[in-house]
Amino acid sequence: MRATFTADGEVLVVTGGANGIGAAAARAYAEAGGTPVVLDVAPSAELAAAGIEQHEVDVADRDAVFAAVATVVERHGRVDGLIAGAAVQPRTPIAEMDPQEWRHTLAVNLDGVVWAVQAALPHLRAQASGSIVVFASGLAHMGRAEASAYAASKGALIAFAKSLAAEVAADRVRVNVLFPGVIDTPQFRAANSGSERAHWTGTTGIGDPVDVVGPLLFLLSEAASMTGSTLSRDRAFSATDTARGADA
Ligand SMILES: NC(=O)c1ccc[n+]([C@@H]2O[C@H](COP(=O)([O-])OP(=O)(O)OC[C@H]3O[C@@H](n4cnc5c(N)ncnc54)[C@H](O)[C@@H]3O)[C@@H](O)[C@H]2O)c1
Repeated sequence: MRATFTADGEVLVVTGGANGIGAAAARAYAEAGGTPVVLDVAPSAELAAAGIEQHEVDVADRDAVFAAVATVVERHGRVDGLIAGAAVQPRTPIAEMDPQEWRHTLAVNLDGVVWAVQAALPHLRAQASGSIVVFASGLAHMGRAEASAYAASKGALIAFAKSLAAEVAADRVRVNVLFPGVIDTPQFRAANSGSERAHWTGTTGIGDPVDVVGPLLFLLSEAASMTGSTLSRDRAFSATDTARGADA
């Protein structure tokens, strides 16, 4: 995809950016002239080969997140955007979920966003500009059997982002929530069985990570004069038999 937004001289931190949507965003941001820096628990060889800076960070570790963001500011002098995307999506019946798994899911998906926001915010505030994007999921509204921890974390993120947007609006920092749609990524493949995947891959609606680049670059750009908003990107639901009325 050709980048149509410019990010000349700007710096973006992408948590969970070694794969999937975050990796596509990092590549597109570099193509748009900016410097993306990925914080991920498992850095990617492909991104390294593409010359994209990565730091091995578990976002649940607040000190590690702060240290990585401090290094980014030391090296590049600024932070203009944060895509807080690191997430895990276990599929476990609630009766079988042990406290560690519940805690880990919220520690990565929710706490990890909070730590990244806290680390980046002073720099965004100092510049009196900046954009934070967090990912929700359709599961926050619809729910899904055996995905309660993930769905709960995403629902909480919507409320968190709305509150954060109100808190930092006066500092000209924008905070928005993106529903990316159903996207074929490592997380999608891990969280869906073969038949569940077939439901989506059998339609024209499932997306590739690059399909989310446009909404992300838009939300990062000044063209998105919005905050506290949710942008719901869909194609998969609208392209399924259900949406066409086959079940009616
Ligand atoms: N793919 C979809 O259909 C879909 C739908 C709705 C929402 N989302 C959301 O979009 C975002 C990106 O998801 P994706 O599908 O590209 O997933 P992905 O699996 O491709 O990428 C997630 C990344 O998070 C990293 N990660 C996991 N635990 C981490 C930790 N503790 N610390 C740092 N990094 C960690 C992984 O290594 C991976 O690189 C996530 O927040 C996800 O919940 C995805």
